[in-house]
Amino acid sequence: MRLLPALALLLAALPALAVPGPRQTQIRPGELWEDANGNHINAHGGGFLLHEGRVWWFGEHKVPGEAGNQAWVGVHCYSSPADDLVNWRDEGIALRVSDDPASDIAAGCILERPKVIYNAKTRKFVMWFHLELKGQGYGAARSGVAVADSVVGPYTFLRSGRINPGRPAQNAPAPGDPNAKHYFRDLPGGQMARDMTLFVDDDGTAYHIYASEENATLQIAELDDTYTQHTGRYWRAFPGRFMEAPALFKKDGKYYFIGSGCTGWAPNAARSAVAPAVIGPWTELGNPARGPNAEKTHFSQSTYALPIPGKPGQVIFCADRWNPKNQIDSRYIWLPIEWKDGKPILNWKPAWSPAAL
Ligand code: DGJ
Repeated sequence: MRLLPALALLLAALPALAVPGPRQTQIRPGELWEDANGNHINAHGGGFLLHEGRVWWFGEHKVPGEAGNQAWVGVHCYSSPADDLVNWRDEGIALRVSDDPASDIAAGCILERPKVIYNAKTRKFVMWFHLELKGQGYGAARSGVAVADSVVGPYTFLRSGRINPGRPAQNAPAPGDPNAKHYFRDLPGGQMARDMTLFVDDDGTAYHIYASEENATLQIAELDDTYTQHTGRYWRAFPGRFMEAPALFKKDGKYYFIGSGCTGWAPNAARSAVAPAVIGPWTELGNPARGPNAEKTHFSQSTYALPIPGKPGQVIFCADRWNPKNQIDSRYIWLPIEWKDGKPILNWKPAWSPAAL
């Protein structure tokens, strides 16, 4: 008789125990994606770094409800063996927002699209992210930078600001150019930077690519040899095309771009482009998505182009399916980038395996 209450107690306690999730063999775009502890991965607007045989996933840690549209925790890190990419281990919070209300990264700020690169010269891991100061909506349009001695952190916040104050673009527009109004307005104080990515070229030069000029134009800014500062050299791309969510990769000597249009959290038709160099000139290739829901990019927005380690030329389109009412439940849309007529394309797949490519 006394066994029953004891059993009931045991059963009630079970969900609290860390029951490891089952080993997964396939990526299922749009489904809940459990980490090794059985929790939905919480790393949105993510970026990836291959380091010492593992791929490290950094992304926005979201809290439930609409509060998830601000940063209350920081940047969450996960890792997976480089030949897996389906099973992810929770590595904890790499960068924490600050309890100090005077900090640029005070809890309640907007901290989006973190990306991490490794600097071999300084032996530091360098994280850049889009930062909006608390209580200012999307008006600040800054970039933040943080560094760490270890891949998982803790990352130390260095500073935030606009980009390259007082410095003209290398491909500066002509005065009066209708697509350069905000570029000229922001020249003295620095260029705006919202959605962003980082790209390290084969020669080790790193670039910061961000939506600028009130999101109308992307800019591509060179980082210095510590990766923690801009050099002052930057290029404007796609003027007046309103592109967000930039993702870059290189294949067969050419540089490819995948991004989105500009419709807030709602999905739109993706964009793609090709260039002979990171800095351009870029030629648009159209919407890479194919099939039903192509005009909404399979209900997703790009965040990163992830080369599959050990499989040269194979790249994963990593994207977010946002849920602005409850961002912690936002889903991940990962699809292999396929090719048709020399253009990257994105076909829907309900389940697939990177190892099988
Ligand atoms: C679209 C961007 O891509 C997201 O990162 C986020 O900034 C939303 N806009 C906010 O509306």
